[in-house]
Amino acid sequence: MSTRRHWRLDARPEGHDYEAALSLQEETLPELAEGQVRVAAQYLSMDAGVRVWMSAREDGYSPPIPLGATMQGQFIGRVEASRSDAFAEGDLVRGFGDWATHSTVDPALAGLTKLDADIDDVRQHFGVLGLNGMTALCGLTDVIGGLEEGQTVLVSAAAGATGGAACQIARNMGCKVYGIAGSPEKCEWLTGTLGLDGAIDYKRQNVAEEIAKIDGGIDVYFENVGGPILDAALPNMVLGGRIGICGLLSGYTSESGEAGPVRFDQILMKRLTVKGIFLPDYLAQGYDYYPQLRKWYDEGKLVGDIDETRGIENTLQAFRRMLTGDKSGKVIVAID
Ligand SMILES: NC(=O)c1ccc[n+]([C@@H]2O[C@H](COP(=O)([O-])OP(=O)(O)OC[C@H]3O[C@@H](n4cnc5c(N)ncnc54)[C@H](OP(=O)(O)O)[C@@H]3O)[C@@H](O)[C@H]2O)c1
Repeated sequence: MSTRRHWRLDARPEGHDYEAALSLQEETLPELAEGQVRVAAQYLSMDAGVRVWMSAREDGYSPPIPLGATMQGQFIGRVEASRSDAFAEGDLVRGFGDWATHSTVDPALAGLTKLDADIDDVRQHFGVLGLNGMTALCGLTDVIGGLEEGQTVLVSAAAGATGGAACQIARNMGCKVYGIAGSPEKCEWLTGTLGLDGAIDYKRQNVAEEIAKIDGGIDVYFENVGGPILDAALPNMVLGGRIGICGLLSGYTSESGEAGPVRFDQILMKRLTVKGIFLPDYLAQGYDYYPQLRKWYDEGKLVGDIDETRGIENTLQAFRRMLTGDKSGKVIVAID
């Protein structure tokens, strides 16, 4: 009988202490039901939003993962067995399944997608060509309502997987782009490799003072963080500016969610439009962002470092590094 290894959520984590809350288990693989597909994972994606599902919060965009259940997330892998007409053994696929060596999924529920294997690095199907790139493109175009050449865009968690994609997409659309990140090296990557107009190190600089120096103010703010950084951005928005709330990760370890913003008044004073970004809302409408992302990728206009950790047993360290910023680029785990 074949088995799989999987991460089980035993308790709600406190802060970033994932070792006390999750345990690596082994179990027998189930028989496939009609329509199901079993995927042998090659890579797992470490995504910030997953931290919310670990908590007991009922007010998130998906219900909490029950205690005792397997931790969920994105995988890239090969179909090992299929009872679906749409997928065959050997297909390279991405989907939502388990933090595990194998996931048995209903293709529709898992958003199972056959991947373009004609690429230099299939791992990019997680980052700039995957959920992160699609969220950035969807957020900056369909949710916020399009960017105009010459507009000024500010991005938080800018050196991260989603933020880095947002910076490059705004730059590719002819905008002036400023990023906020947590180290001199990350800021150097933003202005050097990505060619941004400026970068602010939120751990070493006064963010409010630095944003206030941006000539003409902020037309569009792509928000990944919330908290004090959102409060620093709000008074510097232009009249009629737009804010896309993609994430509020400074509050993801809290069981009660994110308070604020303190400068809520600026939404009225500046007549701002503030919209939440949730990629699945758009994919459900049949949007396909991949061709545009792939075009920029092939032209060298959309790049992303991959930060790979080997071995499913090291998943928790990788997840923590992703959330605390002790990493470079898109964090993934390679399954041996
Ligand atoms: N709505 C959607 O459909 C959707 C989809 C994908 C992602 N997202 C959102 O996108 C955001 C980024 O997620 P990701 O998976 O791409 O992760 P990521 O940006 O690759 O990693 C998270 C980064 O955030 C920064 N960070 C952590 N705590 C911070 C704080 N308190 N203040 C400022 N920066 C902080 C850290 O980098 P530093 O070194 O710069 O601190 C960390 O590396 C999250 O908010 C996530 O929820 C939303």
